[in-house]
Amino acid sequence: MVQKIKKRRYVIGNWKMNPQFPAEAKRIVDEVKKISKKLVRTSVVLLPPAAFLGQCLGTRGDTIYDVGVQNIFYEESGSYTGEISADMVKNLGCTYVLAGHSERRKMGETDVVVAKKLASALRAGLTTVVCVGENERDSQGAYLEPLREQIQKSLEGIVRKDLKNLIIAYEPVWAIGAKEAMTSALIYEMTIFIKKVLSDLFEQEDAVKVPILYGGSVNFRNAAEIISQGQVDGLLVGRESVNPPGFVELLKVVDEIQ
Ligand code: PGA
Repeated sequence: MVQKIKKRRYVIGNWKMNPQFPAEAKRIVDEVKKISKKLVRTSVVLLPPAAFLGQCLGTRGDTIYDVGVQNIFYEESGSYTGEISADMVKNLGCTYVLAGHSERRKMGETDVVVAKKLASALRAGLTTVVCVGENERDSQGAYLEPLREQIQKSLEGIVRKDLKNLIIAYEPVWAIGAKEAMTSALIYEMTIFIKKVLSDLFEQEDAVKVPILYGGSVNFRNAAEIISQGQVDGLLVGRESVNPPGFVELLKVVDEIQ
């Protein structure tokens, strides 16, 4: 019998535009389902392409893992060909949404659009993971001010009561899809910086409760160190989340950290 304790950590799998076939999606889900039942400290969230929401939601059981989408449109309904709304995914049974991933920002999504998507997702009652991160680093810390600005603008309009459904994913763009993750010492520094930015925007006691995740080349080998030394509340995982053996191992090692 799995011990019931409060979940403290998030592992969010961003499948991006993978896999290619429903059967492959089902295979990943089946593995996640098996391991999720055994986790005591970790909340697992799957963010498949919208095409595979059925595979992820259909066999889910009750609350073993959560499901969300990688993007929504901010309008509620109407003539917006190709878009899906926050309410639609909520009504399907999704509980999470990603906003402002760097791959979407690269396609032209601005902070203003991210803030609108965030507002729409929160209105629908979805927990929203807002992705932020610098494109490149320099030795003088010139990336810090643009990052502060990106956070402020992406969270524009957010009020205190919204914070309980907000998660920040810090993803330095240069570490996404790369060979190696950022070092855990730097991740630790950046989580402190982000907490400070949030504390300047909101009451400190509310701001410190917003979970901060790290994303960018996380795998089963570096996950434990990033959590324990980087002092983050969880991980946003790309490639390793569509590799069932690696993802299962990652979940195990993360859950074992005291
Ligand atoms: P990666 O992607 O783990 O493949 O680097 C992370 C992300 O883009 O969220």
